[in-house]
Amino acid sequence: MAEQHSLQESGRRDAPAQGTARSPPTLDGLPVLDHTLSLLRGGVEFGDSVAAHGDVVRFDAMGMPFVAVYDPELVQQVLVDRNDEFRKGDYETSLGELVAPRGLAFTEGEQWRRDRQLLQPAFTPRHVQSFADTMVARTASAADDWAAEGTVDLRESASALTLDILVGTLFDIDLDAERGQVVREAMSALADRISGASTMVPEWLPTPAKRRFDRRMAALDEMVEALVRERRAGDGPGSRDDLLDTLLAAEYPDGSTMDAEHVRDQLVTFLMAGHETTAVALTYILWLLAGDSTVRDRLDAEIATVCGGSDPTFADLPALEVAEAVVNEALRLYPPVYAIYRQPVADTVLGGYELQEDQTLILGTYQIHRDDRWWDDPERFRPERWLDAGGGEDEDGEDENGEAADAEDRPEYAYFPFGGGPRHCIGMRFARMELQLALVTLARRLDFERVTETVEPSAKVTLDPGTVRLRVRDRR
Ligand code: HEM
Repeated sequence: MAEQHSLQESGRRDAPAQGTARSPPTLDGLPVLDHTLSLLRGGVEFGDSVAAHGDVVRFDAMGMPFVAVYDPELVQQVLVDRNDEFRKGDYETSLGELVAPRGLAFTEGEQWRRDRQLLQPAFTPRHVQSFADTMVARTASAADDWAAEGTVDLRESASALTLDILVGTLFDIDLDAERGQVVREAMSALADRISGASTMVPEWLPTPAKRRFDRRMAALDEMVEALVRERRAGDGPGSRDDLLDTLLAAEYPDGSTMDAEHVRDQLVTFLMAGHETTAVALTYILWLLAGDSTVRDRLDAEIATVCGGSDPTFADLPALEVAEAVVNEALRLYPPVYAIYRQPVADTVLGGYELQEDQTLILGTYQIHRDDRWWDDPERFRPERWLDAGGGEDEDGEDENGEAADAEDRPEYAYFPFGGGPRHCIGMRFARMELQLALVTLARRLDFERVTETVEPSAKVTLDPGTVRLRVRDRR
């Protein structure tokens, strides 16, 4: 802590003196390829090496100018205080074009504002709270399957579970194994499509990865159309109180509704953004827990005290502090959304550095979460740093990203796994509740032992842990 303070007091790294804006320091690249190859290799090491050059660093990759930002104060300016001066930008839009151009995560300006307002009612605390029992029931059933398997491929199993929970709550349906597979195959085809060699060839040139992606997206489209058809043919929109209904029945203030393609884009966005992130988070949570018997003992003791011999309920959540600390700490070490992208709407100055409107900002969540200026012993899994933090709600009743107990002088945006400002994750409350309940439901039933000893995360669509195997034993 003492070390952190002295670093903080010594000021931000490299920041130009006030009133003398200058270009950010530039990372020199190889001619032509610049840093594209390093970026495409996908490891988090590239981000680490950029961060070693300062808090604001410029580099070129994939023919685009990037500016990486590792200062929490500047992250807060971009996402919150000056959010209207930044848009999602070309990098994010190009991803949106591939999957869901009019999905909530990809639109800008007035269209985004109207859609966010329309969809927000599906995520009120009352709604999310009503999902708790389904989350627990579906996790309990998955726990039985995992125990029967003996050794699980955690990434795969967690992905099946979080998808099951997502559709069982937000869409109030059971997705059979075949349909579940369609969603997960589309997601993995997307990961291949936007990483590695596939991004190096011109858009018009077909590659196996691109053809596979097109095929799997077509299968996903077909499935989403069927879901909508089935809902319309059933009780009809308006009969239930879920996200699917909100989408089908919703009216904008001028009386217009979303056309079929727009509904499709939203569904695809939620299917992808809502299950993959949580699956990755759950994978890291369980793997970290399997490697730390002290934390495991503490969690077991808490579960016994709070839940007795029963599964957790929504009412138990505030008392499940160790479980919450485990979730917080796993999201710190392995934030599934490892970076956030923005682009200035016009040339501007940030932290004393000039930014041009064609530059894409990378707000480096992963690096900031592990920066020893803000975190003691940052590489270590230490859930206890979150205990006794007090308070998780701000004045508006919105959950905060979380606040660590040893926070003292730590800037708020030293931790932002769910982003911040108006575009923070709409599913944050949902995801936090799901992870806490799933963790407790699984830990009550199962013991975990690591088969995969080391995890090397790679920066794909999310922070991909690769294959993670755990031995699972029923403890009842
Ligand atoms: C651990 C799980 C999750 C993490 C770490 C996470 C992280 C994030 C982050 C960092 C953003 C902001 C991106 C930006 O500002 O550019 C975001 C946005 C978003 N998330 Fe999540 N998310 C999670 C779970 C979910 C769930 C469960 C859902 C849906 C049920 C969801 C739906 C969305 C959507 C639709 C957006 C775009 C919001 C907008 O632009 O208005 N996420 N998420």
